[in-house]
Amino acid sequence: MKISQNISLKNYNTFGINVTAKRFISIDSVYELQQLLKVEKDIFLISGGSNMLLTKDIENLVVHINIKGISIDKENNNDVYLTVNAGENWHEFVLWCVENNYGGIENLSLIPGNVGTCPIQNIGAYGIEVKDTITKVEAIEIKTGKLVQFSNQECDFGYRNSIFKNDKKGKYIICSVSFHLTKSNHNLNSSYGAIETELASNKITNPTLKDISDAVIAIRKSKLPDPKEIGNSGSFFKNPVISRTQFLKLQKKHPNIPSYIVSSTETKVPAGWLIEQAGFKGKRFGEYGVHEKQALVLVNYGKATGKEIYELAKKIQDTIFKKFEIPLEIEVNIIQ
Ligand code: EPU
Repeated sequence: MKISQNISLKNYNTFGINVTAKRFISIDSVYELQQLLKVEKDIFLISGGSNMLLTKDIENLVVHINIKGISIDKENNNDVYLTVNAGENWHEFVLWCVENNYGGIENLSLIPGNVGTCPIQNIGAYGIEVKDTITKVEAIEIKTGKLVQFSNQECDFGYRNSIFKNDKKGKYIICSVSFHLTKSNHNLNSSYGAIETELASNKITNPTLKDISDAVIAIRKSKLPDPKEIGNSGSFFKNPVISRTQFLKLQKKHPNIPSYIVSSTETKVPAGWLIEQAGFKGKRFGEYGVHEKQALVLVNYGKATGKEIYELAKKIQDTIFKKFEIPLEIEVNIIQ
């Protein structure tokens, strides 16, 4: 185990923010992590760095979770149960599943980040949430160094939410995630508008896992910036859920407002639409701005600071509240 000094974190966060870690260590096994925790408790975890906005240098020890490996726990003709270590890249894992004809996460293709962080915000896209395939999360309790297991139910998953963002925030390090995927009779989810259109334009009527994954990749590439080219953290805000009454009032003024019904009393509206209506879509302020094709995504064109992007986010929140009386909740972790 080697601790390095003054390491730039630019390549460790998908926003590409150039802050410095005073001390930095990369960890590639659970054993190493447990040994480290015996002597270091004041740590800052970084995995795929895909859901954070760093606004300052990090004083505590930065621990990069790089534990790799995939194992098949059991399988039969219809199902496969896998355990995947936290440091595996999410998208590479999805592609590997598609190649092996393991179904369930193909709609989650091309989401940046690592497997270990997928349960924290319960990643979701195109009609699927990862919670529907997770059977168990294994994590180390930082205080005791003990390895503990959380069943799917114990993770208390919600829309972009889990116990790891609430009660257990900052208390555990996720080491592996176990999944239940299908080997036959896949429960394909191709009904999301954009997927249907993409499949139809390729004249695909009976899609395979690969067809769906390819369609999702094409849609995401057309709307969302590649973090390797333009720094970003995907959706910066959550889609707000408002009361049906407030929605109906809004719809009177804006008949074209897109929406998803959550319950008989609640409606979800796309934050991207609200931000676009407020005139921010595609706006560039020097080194940072709002993506031109998806207003929900804030971007770093290269040299932005986390503080600048956070200030922009607050300005957007203020404007949306004044215009629509809707509070926008930030989805990305702001490190300040
Ligand atoms: N829209 C606009 N303007 C925009 C963006 C969107 O008017 O700039 C409208 C679209 O026309 C559409 C609606 O808003 O009618 C929804 O847009 P989209 O299908 O792109 O999805 P989203 O609600 O903006 C959510 C997730 C994304 C996920 C997509 C697809 C959240 C916070 N975001 O975005 O997740 O990829 O659905 O399922 O729920 C992420 O979390 O990083 C992420 C990219």
